Amino acid sequence: MGRRSRRVSVDPARQAAFDALVRGEVDGAYLNLVLPRLLRERGIGGRDAGLATELANGTARLQGSYDAILDTCLTKAADQLQPEVRVGLRMGSHQLLSMRVPPHAAVSTGVELVRGAVGERPVGLVNAVLRRVAGRSLHAWLTALAPPRSADLVGHLVVTASHPRWVVEAFLDLLGDRSEVEEMLAADNTAAAVALAVRPGLTTPAEIVAEASAAGLEAEAGHWSPYAVLLAGGDPAALRAVRSGTVGVQDEGSQLAALVVARAPLDGPDRRWLDCCAGPGGKAALLIGLAAERGAVLVAAERQPRRAALVAAAARRYPRRPCVVAADGTRPAWRDGSFDRVIVDVPCTGLGALRRRPDARWRRQPSDLATLVPLQQALLAQALRAARPGGVVAYVTCSPLAAETRAVVDAVLAGEHGAVEQDVRPLLPEVGSLGDGPHVQLWPHRHGTDAMFMALLRRTV
Ligand SMILES: C[S@@+](CC[C@H](N)C(=O)[O-])C[C@H]1O[C@@H](n2cnc3c(N)ncnc32)[C@H](O)[C@@H]1O
Repeated sequence: MGRRSRRVSVDPARQAAFDALVRGEVDGAYLNLVLPRLLRERGIGGRDAGLATELANGTARLQGSYDAILDTCLTKAADQLQPEVRVGLRMGSHQLLSMRVPPHAAVSTGVELVRGAVGERPVGLVNAVLRRVAGRSLHAWLTALAPPRSADLVGHLVVTASHPRWVVEAFLDLLGDRSEVEEMLAADNTAAAVALAVRPGLTTPAEIVAEASAAGLEAEAGHWSPYAVLLAGGDPAALRAVRSGTVGVQDEGSQLAALVVARAPLDGPDRRWLDCCAGPGGKAALLIGLAAERGAVLVAAERQPRRAALVAAAARRYPRRPCVVAADGTRPAWRDGSFDRVIVDVPCTGLGALRRRPDARWRRQPSDLATLVPLQQALLAQALRAARPGGVVAYVTCSPLAAETRAVVDAVLAGEHGAVEQDVRPLLPEVGSLGDGPHVQLWPHRHGTDAMFMALLRRTV
């Protein structure tokens, strides 16, 4: 029998999740980009899209735990298998151990997916391994395999909480408290509610909650941001406001970062704002509306032209055309001292957004910091130069790692004489547990947001 006729037996949602995970393994594709594209191309929506997302994200989330289990059922390590076989085994494990799919169905889908992708040869292995995996519950497997917490806490968490060793170690350093780290890792492994950000002046949270309820989606106002609406589940694209661009999908932590730069007190003019790492435009779209309410304008700069186009698209519903430029923030197209408010939301490891991008934990390496940190420092130093004396600069990352947060701010402040740091906490009075300052580090387990870092600097001369 040819491959094509066999592949029809797998439903489209599982096939899409499998294909997206394989693309991640083979080409390094990002799950949060490749899966929605596949779903769109194949016309998969509604519950099937939800199932595909849960399968793909859930498998990526617990990949570390599943690989530890698979390694004991295989004669070679999971990472030495063909990518399609590896993905089939991981996805089969997820269905068996975390989704309560009946074993015969989970095993046969895993077998069919692998057979459809690479042919007959590995079919016997996939069948046998998944049957072994089905022999215990996830809890029983992890209890048997993880080192005891008391003897090797990091090793225990690597297996049970499915995070790479270096990430567990970094979170332990940052949070100190063992049980808090466990809460943090558990929060990373819990799918986040979909957060929407209302574009100021175009609609209101109350209107969006009403539209969502009419569409059968459970929605409530956000916990912290006055522009946020949270959806308990469902596809945000079901909302006309999302499709038309009066609302965007954006974590509340990101919304708070935009509010920090907009709320910072300022003496003198407040007319020109700059977002110097704007793509794909979530914060810019919020800031354009906030600036317009005060008669100010935002310049949104982004190095990659394709991402600059996404910023323009995110802001398309504002009556005034947004000012979006494709520009390198380290070699700016503007004169020093041109802006009253600047936000620099730098490229980073993204380890603060693992709830939404679960695969990033496996892609990132400590060595990435060697290129990211100098770029982050250069972008912050230029952002400071872009601000006028008395102007403010918000430095933002969606990572909590000290190397790309506190250490970057300290290094740039040490090299720049004309800047001081200010306390961010008074700018977010609605949010509790903001730590000792002056910067703010949000956490999924404390605030229910991505782990956004924000520091505020003021140019003095
Ligand atoms: C964390 S993302 C920004 C997210 C964005 N602020 C938002 O809220 O949607 C960082 C962005 O910086 C861009 N970038 C990287 N290097 C840059 C540079 N030298 N100058 C300007 N933008 C840069 C990346 O392409 C990426 O789009």
